[in-house]
Amino acid sequence: MVTDGQTELKKKRKYIPGVAAFRFQPEPDWTKKQANSLYKRRKHSNIDVIDKVLYEDCVKGMQDLPDECVDLIVADPPFGINFSGMESIYNRDVEFVVTGYQEIDDDYAKFTDAWISELPRIMKEDASAYVFSGWTNLEYVQAAARRANLKVINHIIWKYQFGVFTMKKFVTSHYHILLLAKDPKKYYFHKIEHYIPDVWPITRKYKPGIKKNGTVLPVEVVEKCIDFSSEPGDVILDPFMGNGTTAVAAKRNFRHYLGFEINKNLQYVIDENIDSVDLGEQYTAYKKRLPAIETLKKRYPKAYKHLLKRGEIVHGTKRRSRPYSKSTV
Ligand SMILES: C[S@@+](CC[C@H](N)C(=O)[O-])C[C@H]1O[C@@H](n2cnc3c(N)ncnc32)[C@H](O)[C@@H]1O
Repeated sequence: MVTDGQTELKKKRKYIPGVAAFRFQPEPDWTKKQANSLYKRRKHSNIDVIDKVLYEDCVKGMQDLPDECVDLIVADPPFGINFSGMESIYNRDVEFVVTGYQEIDDDYAKFTDAWISELPRIMKEDASAYVFSGWTNLEYVQAAARRANLKVINHIIWKYQFGVFTMKKFVTSHYHILLLAKDPKKYYFHKIEHYIPDVWPITRKYKPGIKKNGTVLPVEVVEKCIDFSSEPGDVILDPFMGNGTTAVAAKRNFRHYLGFEINKNLQYVIDENIDSVDLGEQYTAYKKRLPAIETLKKRYPKAYKHLLKRGEIVHGTKRRSRPYSKSTV
């Protein structure tokens, strides 16, 4: 039997859609100045070489790194589908494609095992890795991750707006991104948005007239990985630098980077891309990126009224809380 007290409690706990979205505060958070000072302190790093791209095979390069030296890995390996990097569908104008794209001709499984097995040793305890893969080779990436004892935390789909035209099958317009952790209990994950689906619709941009490697990730995709899985001052490793997208994303957001790229022809493209951005230029405190109260009010009018009555929203602002850093705990 339901007593008066219980009815009262039920009433009080009534679910109002949107309340959690209004209340959400990303913690920790840092102002631009705080992020810059975390970057300058380089607190986590025990690597001699930092903020550099080394032009060598990544397997050999990773073997030369010390134990537990990186906070995050973003890896976009070659597809292994006899892609030359010159396909006009990707670049429109072959003249602008840098030659020497290194594809994997022989055993993709062997290649994948070779580089993924190097990751756990160089990852810090709380580090994670975002590994990009097309669907054709996904099984090898999954198997290699399993053998390396890396745990799959998420299987993300990056949905882009176009794919290679096909006649007798569906056009592939997505990519797989595996979020892997060294330790599923300890990996760093920063919930900077209230509701974060594992499908990321992010547009791929054509950059006609610009010299580039045959494939390039949108910087927004890499920035999403960095935002959710590292904090300012952390070290991000990219074993397959390509055009230097990870380095650009890291520099724009007060993170350090280290990368490998086997194709030396790409050096001037990478240098140019890195030089074209300023340190921290894209960095914005996470609270500033939250949807405006006015936007949430339109979406959840009931929740707005409820929180106004409770005094949680005053003149369209929310309470702020103090900054935090994982290095301080
Ligand atoms: C898919 S692309 C990376 C594109 C990059 N994410 C970007 O946005 O520009 C893969 C890159 O890995 C390089 N590569 C292939 N094998 C390699 C190896 N063993 N070590 C280092 N780089 C390698 C290729 O030359 C190519 O530039």
